Amino acid sequence: MDQAELVGLLRGAVDAEGGRWADLGAGEGAFTLALADLLGPGAHITAVDREASSLRELEEAMVKRFPQTRLDVKKADFTRPLALSDLDGIVMANSLHFVRDKRPILAQVKTMLSPGGRLIVVEYGANRGNPWVPHPFSYERWEQMAAEAGFENTRLLGTVPSRYLGSMYSAVTYAPRTTTAD
Ligand SMILES: C[S@@+](CC[C@H](N)C(=O)[O-])C[C@H]1O[C@@H](n2cnc3c(N)ncnc32)[C@H](O)[C@@H]1O
Repeated sequence: MDQAELVGLLRGAVDAEGGRWADLGAGEGAFTLALADLLGPGAHITAVDREASSLRELEEAMVKRFPQTRLDVKKADFTRPLALSDLDGIVMANSLHFVRDKRPILAQVKTMLSPGGRLIVVEYGANRGNPWVPHPFSYERWEQMAAEAGFENTRLLGTVPSRYLGSMYSAVTYAPRTTTAD
């Protein structure tokens, strides 16, 4: 995917410049860089991945291409507590499909977002996995999972053809603005 396609998959959910974001399972940062492009100077992004070498590549690329973006990298397992909070947005691109039971991580993501903060997922449009993409979920299934996890206003942002599993989509969903008393 080129930069225009990467940016295109996120664009519909990024309506303000700057802000505090995280990319969970950032890898070498294809979508972290696209996010930096969209957020412009002044953005603060934390990239989380368990592969230190990928994060080093991302750091080098960010300095070269978007030197005004503040990037923190965190070598960590995103299914464990991450000590991140009050985020305007979180991106999970091709990373949530590594988790079989997504409920605990979605609950955690919700606590990391500020009220009304958004989660953007980029995923393959399939429900049957393979050794490389073990637990994918179609957009239809994502709508259900996001609602069950207490997110709101889920919508499809875009789709692109993919050599693997046919297609890839991006979608956004929002943490509630108000909490309800139980
Ligand atoms: C397929 S790559 C996607 C990278 C990038 N988001 C992209 O779309 O180009 C998945 C990444 O998620 C990371 N990852 C998977 N499970 C993880 C976990 N539990 N904690 C941290 N990183 C994880 C892998 O190390 C890998 O870099």
